Amino acid sequence: MTNYTIEDWAAGYISQEQEYDYLIENIEGEIPPNLKGTLFRNGPGLLDIGDIPLRHPFDGDGMISRFTFENGKAHYLSRYVHTEGYLKERSAKTILYRGVFGTQKPGGWLNNIFDVNLKNIANTNILYWAGRLLALWEAAEPYRLDPKTLDTLGIDYLDGLLKKGDPFSAHPRIDPDGPTLVNFALKAGLTSQLTIYEFEKSGKLIATHAHKIPGFCFIHDFIITPNYAIFLQNPVNFNLFPFLFGLRGAGECVEFQPEKTTKIIIIPRKIPYDNVQTLEVQAGFIFHHANAYETAEGICLDSICYESLPSVEPDADFRQTDFSKVAPGQLWRFNLNLAQKSVSKKLLEPNCCEFPTLNKDYLGRQYRYLYLGSADSALKQNAPLQRILKIDLVTGEQRAISFAPRGFVSEPIFVNDPTKAESEDSGWVLSVVYNADRGASDLVILNAQDMSLVATLHLKHHIPYGLHGSWVDECFT
Ligand code: CO
Repeated sequence: MTNYTIEDWAAGYISQEQEYDYLIENIEGEIPPNLKGTLFRNGPGLLDIGDIPLRHPFDGDGMISRFTFENGKAHYLSRYVHTEGYLKERSAKTILYRGVFGTQKPGGWLNNIFDVNLKNIANTNILYWAGRLLALWEAAEPYRLDPKTLDTLGIDYLDGLLKKGDPFSAHPRIDPDGPTLVNFALKAGLTSQLTIYEFEKSGKLIATHAHKIPGFCFIHDFIITPNYAIFLQNPVNFNLFPFLFGLRGAGECVEFQPEKTTKIIIIPRKIPYDNVQTLEVQAGFIFHHANAYETAEGICLDSICYESLPSVEPDADFRQTDFSKVAPGQLWRFNLNLAQKSVSKKLLEPNCCEFPTLNKDYLGRQYRYLYLGSADSALKQNAPLQRILKIDLVTGEQRAISFAPRGFVSEPIFVNDPTKAESEDSGWVLSVVYNADRGASDLVILNAQDMSLVATLHLKHHIPYGLHGSWVDECFT
């Protein structure tokens, strides 16, 4: 039994060709007057190019949404990231690049053979740090945008830190101490290389260190505590041949090896950075971590784990996904004992969930409340995300708000209420919800304490399902 139709869900993946700039006026409820700042979101906006559908939504060009909240009003602005690939394909009106997740150039394998020239699509996350607004995609350099207009300013090499084609992860973490921006770059190969960067509030680089990791790595996200940067090396292999011969996209050549363990790589954030520890555990496949903190024995780590790697079958259309055939994301807690080099694990939420977020002041610290997108039904099977779920990790109590049967949620973002900083959950949770009833998206503002609906801002159009975003206390208009 499902609480949605696949047609409703798939309608949220129609390309959004238009860019918008307007004051949001169709509002139910009231925007809290003390909600002030900017919500930036990134995600694939084009799901077909020149009428050729993409094979995987992760191959879509990055479209930035900016919601500005000030004096109880909200303004919306959207712009595409003008990457080199976006501009060339827009003028050619056809697919010119191979996508990492399987989108091929037309013409079959003969036209794709040995073409390893991937397109930087800048579609995964958006970060504002030290005056720079950066659209991020893990396999290449960030693109810099103007926060006032969202105009693309070009590739940002971070003052010469990056070289042409260098990766820079789309999952930076901000240590509230400082605050300090921590990010990584992964160069995957037979031996992989992980480089960690730390930047202070002014933007100045304060640490960089590189580590060789045995074997192929597929690492999308990481997590930090005050003393450690923690990476989970998924049990995967890379099968180069179908990729080089043009038969499959790079993402489709990552082979999940469920019989193998996940390696937990713990890298010190303090000089001389060299006492790297590696623990092992059976953990399935992981994209995202919720949080981690240091304990008397070592580290407590919360992550979303899949029993198997979600993949797109060759020749399958993702718009027809049979969710019941894909393993659900589940929330697990791992307790790492560094002296004994042992790991114990506990399932915290068996029902399908993804996009974990928290009050950012608690990143890397002991915390109590976690917010996630989750499936509406408690069937322990995969389904689209239709609820925003809050979990109290101390009592196990859950609170949720559902937008089923016709609403589909995106990553929730927690925003502190500056007038009530007394508790971890004093604030709001924002999420873009695709409303199939209207064929358009809503921005919902929830009370983070009881998950009640504070306001629904009806946009004039839809925003294709996004990936990640961030909140900034400043306004740029
Ligand atoms: Co991600």
